[in-house]
Amino acid sequence: MPVFAIAAVIFILVEAAVVYAAFKFRDRGDETEPKQIHGNNKLEALWTIIPALILVGIAVPTVSAIVDLTSAPDDAVEIDVIGHQWWFEFSYPEGITTANVLVVPAGTPIDLSMTSKDVVHSFWIPRLAGKRDVIPGQYTSLYFEADEPGEYWGQCAEFCGLSHAKMSFRVRALPPAEYTAWLQAQQQPAVEPAAGSLEAQGRDIFLGRGCIACHNIKGVSEVAGEVPGAPDLTHFASRNVFAGASLSIDSDDDLRDWLANPPAVKSGSFMPNLGLSPDDITALIAYLRSLE
Ligand code: CUA
Repeated sequence: MPVFAIAAVIFILVEAAVVYAAFKFRDRGDETEPKQIHGNNKLEALWTIIPALILVGIAVPTVSAIVDLTSAPDDAVEIDVIGHQWWFEFSYPEGITTANVLVVPAGTPIDLSMTSKDVVHSFWIPRLAGKRDVIPGQYTSLYFEADEPGEYWGQCAEFCGLSHAKMSFRVRALPPAEYTAWLQAQQQPAVEPAAGSLEAQGRDIFLGRGCIACHNIKGVSEVAGEVPGAPDLTHFASRNVFAGASLSIDSDDDLRDWLANPPAVKSGSFMPNLGLSPDDITALIAYLRSLE
């Protein structure tokens, strides 16, 4: 705003001088020439020095703001981001791992440390921060703050293979008290289905049909290796989207289509067609939706 104010004053002075000179020295049709002059050392020195001083003055706050913006403050919430083909994983210091929905406290600086499990991705939340590459074997950081609670859309912004376009995510900014409650809920093991229920059938399908080879559910299955190849499903139903935020957990059709044949919905998906029957799928959906 100060720069704008200075520029506005200069604009008005220059335009006024132009209009004045054009009017005062207009051709009056009497063929008299105005007095011809050649330069004015004093004036030229003045209008070189004044703008130089203004630019130096603007540079001081600009450079210090740039330095401030490059590193997150010490009280920032630290979250790890891992890019996968084609979804983002979020890992919190509290031992929580989630996918597709990055939950953050509103009004608090967030410090992301990002890397990729496979190829180069780019993490972008247009309303909150600029793009930042997510690179295998390297850590990049991104610092932002959501001033208002709400849901912000994010998208992978670097072509990363067949389903790059479907590699999106959501940032859910919660009021701080709700964020604390969310953190506590996420640390609980998965909900245990009642014996004999449809949900229990769904869990048996999850355990028996190979889902546990890639997906963690706390208290039900733990995948070996540091980074599982697929999203943690412990609190699947606390999210609103899945499959790179391209599908809705509230939609029966989305869940059915996905479980019937993932690569048909999201090209190149590493989740294979498991040959599930419609009844298997019904039970699995009931189980997944019980995982609040
Ligand atoms: Cu990941 Cu594009």
